[in-house]
Amino acid sequence: MKKRLRIFFKILGGVILLIVLIGLSGWWYINSTFLSFEKDYDVKNEIKQLNINGYSFLDRNGNGRLDIYEDDRKSIDERVEDLLSQMTLEEKIHILKGSGMSSSLGIGNTAIPGAVGTIVPTPRLGIPTIYLSDGPAGLRIKPKRKGEDRTYYCTAFPIATLLSSTWNTDLVNKVGVAMGTEAKEYGIDVILGPGVNIHRHPLCGRNFEYYSEDPVLTGFIGAAMVNGIESKGIGTSVKHFVANNQETDRNFNDVIVSDRAMREIYLKGFEIIVKKSQPWTIMSSYNKVNGSYVPEKKDLLTDILREEWKYEGLVMSDWFGGYNAPHMIAAGNDLLEPGTNKQWKALRKAAKNGTLSEKEINISARRILKLIIQSQKMKNYVYNNNPNLTVHAKISRQLATEGMVLLKNTQTLPLSDSQNIALLGITSYDFIAGGTGSGDVNEAYTVSLEEGLRNAGYIINEKAKQIFEEHKANHKEEFKKNKGLKSVIFPYLPPKITYTEKELKEIVASSDLGIITIGRNSGEGGDRVEKDDFLLSDKEQSMINNVCEAFQTAGKKVIVVLNIGGVIETASWKSKPDAILLAWQSGQEGGNSVVDVLKGKVNPSGRLPMTFPINLKDHASNANFPLDGESIDFIKLAFASREEKPEDKKIKNKDYTNYEEGIYVGYRHFDKAKLEVSYPFGYGLSYTTFDYSDLNVILQNDTIKVMITVTNSGSQAGKEVVQVYTSKVDSKIDRPVKELKTFIKTKNLQSDESITVMLSIPVSELSYWSENDSKWELEKGTYQIQVGSSSRDIKLSENIEIVQ
Ligand code: BGC
Repeated sequence: MKKRLRIFFKILGGVILLIVLIGLSGWWYINSTFLSFEKDYDVKNEIKQLNINGYSFLDRNGNGRLDIYEDDRKSIDERVEDLLSQMTLEEKIHILKGSGMSSSLGIGNTAIPGAVGTIVPTPRLGIPTIYLSDGPAGLRIKPKRKGEDRTYYCTAFPIATLLSSTWNTDLVNKVGVAMGTEAKEYGIDVILGPGVNIHRHPLCGRNFEYYSEDPVLTGFIGAAMVNGIESKGIGTSVKHFVANNQETDRNFNDVIVSDRAMREIYLKGFEIIVKKSQPWTIMSSYNKVNGSYVPEKKDLLTDILREEWKYEGLVMSDWFGGYNAPHMIAAGNDLLEPGTNKQWKALRKAAKNGTLSEKEINISARRILKLIIQSQKMKNYVYNNNPNLTVHAKISRQLATEGMVLLKNTQTLPLSDSQNIALLGITSYDFIAGGTGSGDVNEAYTVSLEEGLRNAGYIINEKAKQIFEEHKANHKEEFKKNKGLKSVIFPYLPPKITYTEKELKEIVASSDLGIITIGRNSGEGGDRVEKDDFLLSDKEQSMINNVCEAFQTAGKKVIVVLNIGGVIETASWKSKPDAILLAWQSGQEGGNSVVDVLKGKVNPSGRLPMTFPINLKDHASNANFPLDGESIDFIKLAFASREEKPEDKKIKNKDYTNYEEGIYVGYRHFDKAKLEVSYPFGYGLSYTTFDYSDLNVILQNDTIKVMITVTNSGSQAGKEVVQVYTSKVDSKIDRPVKELKTFIKTKNLQSDESITVMLSIPVSELSYWSENDSKWELEKGTYQIQVGSSSRDIKLSENIEIVQ
């Protein structure tokens, strides 16, 4: 017996030892390969003050003198050069990579839990840690910290797609200011956004983080956001540069795309943003373009970005993006995030053996130091950890109302007061504020549609509510929403509900009106699918059919609210409800904002930043897009080889995606192919109507000036979005039928009020990218300037001649 026990314990001991060894070597592999876990460092307390002629400076390196880099009266460039000259090669290499995920995990005395990355400090010279945090819809830091009672919630602003639906650059700028302020007061130096990839296909899981299918709308809105955030002395990271238009295999996918489509569609938005707002940073994307990883592509990161566009900021990698660290630095990807030990070693080795020159290291180090010198940390700004979340919530509510798009309204909206409203569909009660993954925000609350209606004095139908509560109690698991990484692995799909004939009868009899909310959710790491996502599920279809029939037979109306992050199919059911409001995922105040619009407190003025097609396959890109919605495979990500696969082993739309449609993305394709759509690009209704008159187009030097008068011809005050498209008449080359060149949103026009707006288009913007000559080419001849309220509702047009 004893012997048996001894053998048992020996085996047990062996097994435990084996597990420990495997664990340790696994940890060693992960630590040496992926992480670097350097502690953040608070340099502030050790720095002495220098008083010179009544001015107070910080003696960062403690040498008792005022060095140029310490002197904030000197130019940034002078300070950078001085600082660079005082750094050792080791120190310069060190700042090229972040400190791993230590800050996010709260390691280090100044760590900001949830901040996903850093620029490492250089304590010897008193250079502080710089903190980077996601993302496009608001900051993503952890709301709770160990051992503290208080919370660190952030404002969940509406998703990027709603922002672009406002077509209001001033308002987006204001949101940027609010986001910048929030970052500043939480000690964050750079916000990892905005996301400006083009909506190439409706199923990209991250479209909600991006603005539009059109590069001009993307560029104008993106620049307004960058300028807003950066006006607070906080940096942005415009992402993901470039052609990251699918989540499926995003870390390996090779985008095969023509130069023309790159220039006119995928690069264009970035180009506008760089020229209008010089962002502090740009984030390179994971994917390859035409055979090589973007973070290692000098033609994109240096030749185009820096030399052609004169970009002055730094480029950072997407998290763990890129493959060969020295190649990344040499290509112009200056900062490796979040930074790994493997990269650090590779950089030191390359510097030692001369494959990466000190000159190349200096170029990147200089750009990083420039950001550090400009940062709030370098100013020793004392952040209060108390941004005014109440004020920001108000901005979020206002913004959300302005980006909602009224798709249909047959004399139903605005609502009259104090009605009994039956809320149908789960998301009416469980409203979705935003998407998942790094585009998520840890907000304190989300106002549901139910709460929004109650806040505005409406009565919520008890019967419909009771059915919802019972459903929730019986399906608890379906209602669980994960955050962060968990949400990528276990995404939340809004649960579905159905109503029996008897239930509907009771609901209709006891209410004045029905509102059905259709919810969708998606996020980083996976693409959406057609079935039950782009298309309504059978349950949703029958809910719409049955609810509409029951209410309408009783002479009562039904409104559908779309609480979604990306395009869904609408053509098959849109005739049924009396009104449809596209509310998007409208941030933490969502329910209040929807009600502001339904009630007519705000007249809807949102316009679609993308086309709503009849069928998915109508999109030219559908022939080359992963349609099976696979989500990220972390094992593959960690261990798969980045070496080129043999051609015959490559899988279409995973290992590579052919952008065969070229420039024909979104309305450019639908218009050219003369396809019917459900709702066109730029579309959106109002509670009033607008007349367009007195179009006047003149050519002044190198600019086309477009003047037009807009009159509110209806009975309610409202804002109109004036959209200017151009079309080359008798073009010798293959060109889109029309392309958006500029737009403006009017002020709130009172009934009968007119305004004359003036818009400018640089003549060079009429150019197309010539593949033959590898440059922008301006065709001479006639161009039609079309002014309208959507891409398919051109009100007036005029021709101009371009000679030269
Ligand atoms: C995302 C980025 C994000 C980064 C840090 C990446 O997975 O693609 O958009 O900023 O993580 O969270």
